Amino acid sequence: MSTRASNRYATPFAERFDLRLPLVQAPMVGATTPALVIAASNAGALGSLGAGAMTPDKLTAEVAEIRAGTSRPFGVNLFVLDEHTPDEATVRRALSAIDPLRAELGLPPGRALERYAHAFRAQLDRLVELRVPVVSFTFGVLDAADVARLKAAGSYVIGSATHVAEGLAWRDAGADAVCAQGAEAGGHRGTFIDAGKNPLVGTMALVPQLADALDIPVLAAGGIMDGRGIAAALALGAQAAQLGTVFLPCAESAIAEDWRRRLLASRDTSTSVTRAITGRYARGIRNTLMDRLEAEPSLVAPYPVQNALTQELRQTAAKADRGDYLSLWSGQGAPLLRGRPERAGAAELVDALDTEWRAAVNALSRIGAIE
Ligand SMILES: Cc1cc2nc3c(=O)[nH]c(=O)nc-3n(C[C@H](O)[C@H](O)[C@H](O)COP(=O)(O)O)c2cc1C
Repeated sequence: MSTRASNRYATPFAERFDLRLPLVQAPMVGATTPALVIAASNAGALGSLGAGAMTPDKLTAEVAEIRAGTSRPFGVNLFVLDEHTPDEATVRRALSAIDPLRAELGLPPGRALERYAHAFRAQLDRLVELRVPVVSFTFGVLDAADVARLKAAGSYVIGSATHVAEGLAWRDAGADAVCAQGAEAGGHRGTFIDAGKNPLVGTMALVPQLADALDIPVLAAGGIMDGRGIAAALALGAQAAQLGTVFLPCAESAIAEDWRRRLLASRDTSTSVTRAITGRYARGIRNTLMDRLEAEPSLVAPYPVQNALTQELRQTAAKADRGDYLSLWSGQGAPLLRGRPERAGAAELVDALDTEWRAAVNALSRIGAIE
């Protein structure tokens, strides 16, 4: 069913995908499930699957599940990664900090792994074959030939940027749109130019600078938790808002119960950006895992090695529902979750966001009318 008839505030991006509101449910490895994507897309947002940690066959299976549940557009997200083979000393150093934490959960000392990430080229080839409506990428930029392959397969290509130079790199590679990831955002920073400097440009500053620099649509991500935030993103020049943290506690999300509880109990100062857990800067709620691994920064291996070496520990913690040993990725806006109905489905959340953002726009236009 078309949602266009009731959409009085459509942006070109929202119109292109027949969205009821200019809203993207963010791709989130470890949280997004086919059920979440289906519910978000069927409710009139653009649902997106975080597939960066999937084998090509799992990607095929989850995309088939989404297609069986919705005929509406949806997105799939991958990490742009090079092959990485660490030397033994790097692995040994990293494990010397991780092993005591493993022992606390009853795990034996860790060992070097056969591989530290799924091969990106194989994931990308499968994504081209799957011809999904929207594809998005973080941690790097594709070359123009790969962007052209995806477009020839009928996919709309979105690149993530944490500062202006990265947005320009995606534009030059031929991307259809750029997602501006502000410093407030939960999860990994997508930074791939000057990553060592950990540039943390806030959403309020980044979105208008990217909108001015680019002639392709910009999406806004980071700290947007409600309809006020969506209206603000559009006022800054974005064509849609990409929300992650607000979807984390949804009924269809895959996160552990203790993560859910800690999100709802968090404060504005509860999160930090750290590279200690995965070797790549990421924002999450501070806990024992973050504190202990941060205490020895020189032992932390680069991404994806540190990520893979802490994975079994974090998976065991998830099964045991021990939030102290999980990576609790979350944005700075998490306290704004309080007041929303607990364990609501994504469809109910999208409905609420639609009502809220229309009210926010109307409130602004009423202010505008007072002269
Ligand atoms: C748990 C979690 C996992 C994430 N995983 C991914 C991912 O796999 N790919 C990606 O591009 N962004 C990922 N992100 C970032 C989101 O796509 C989005 O940019 C961010 O959530 C927006 O900020 P917010 O959390 O303040 O809404 C993740 C964020 C969170 C909270």
